[in-house]
Amino acid sequence: MIVPSPIVAPSILAADFAHLADEVRAVENAADWLHVDVMDNHFVPNLTIGLPVVQSLRAATQLPFDVHLMIEDPRRWAPGYADAGAYNVTFHAEACDDPVALAKDLRSAGAKAGLAIDRDTPIEPYLELLPSFDTLLIMTIKAGFGGQRFIPQLLDKVRAARRHVDSGHLELRIEVDGGIAADTIEQAAAAGADAFVAGTAVYGAADPAEAVRRLRGLAERAASGA
Ligand code: DX5
Ligand code: ZN
Repeated sequence: MIVPSPIVAPSILAADFAHLADEVRAVENAADWLHVDVMDNHFVPNLTIGLPVVQSLRAATQLPFDVHLMIEDPRRWAPGYADAGAYNVTFHAEACDDPVALAKDLRSAGAKAGLAIDRDTPIEPYLELLPSFDTLLIMTIKAGFGGQRFIPQLLDKVRAARRHVDSGHLELRIEVDGGIAADTIEQAAAAGADAFVAGTAVYGAADPAEAVRRLRGLAERAASGA
């Protein structure tokens, strides 16, 4: 297993939305990416933030934005997030009938392209599409809400993806999202994930920056097999 150094992406879904800029600055020197969950109350029942908030937030931090679109019709909306300066834009496989075409659009708009796989979606049909993507986000919960319990069985998808990425020498981050915390990140890293979204585990901590560093240390150790 050839795994690059782990990325930790705090999810602002668990932050105080009345003080978003301050919450982002709290992890500015510790995080690798900032994970931004966009939900439309259609693809998932929950509703969060959209483009205007992402545009405003873009000016408030240097952190690369890892935008996770849990929305219907991503072909209509996703390129706008690339135009707004997102580093990586991830959309759900379940919401898109031509993921490769949208990945191309995102890359031409200057962003990395990410494909997300929800809890009940098998990974196998999507493995052959991975050369068109820069990140593969494997949900370790059902998408829609923070604070849910990590589902360890979903790491089988991470293992399958890691095998595929390594054997095909693909340059692709394998990201996990949902219930990632000090007691779950090591198993996700050992399964082959190399990017870790954490909402509650970061913003529920007394010191969010310290929580990020601790998570990264645990992931590094697990990935090196220590
Ligand atoms: C949920 C979101 C997650 C969420 C994770 O659908 O995609 O990014 O913020 O929250 P925790 O880390 O609390 O499980
Ligand atoms: Zn997310």
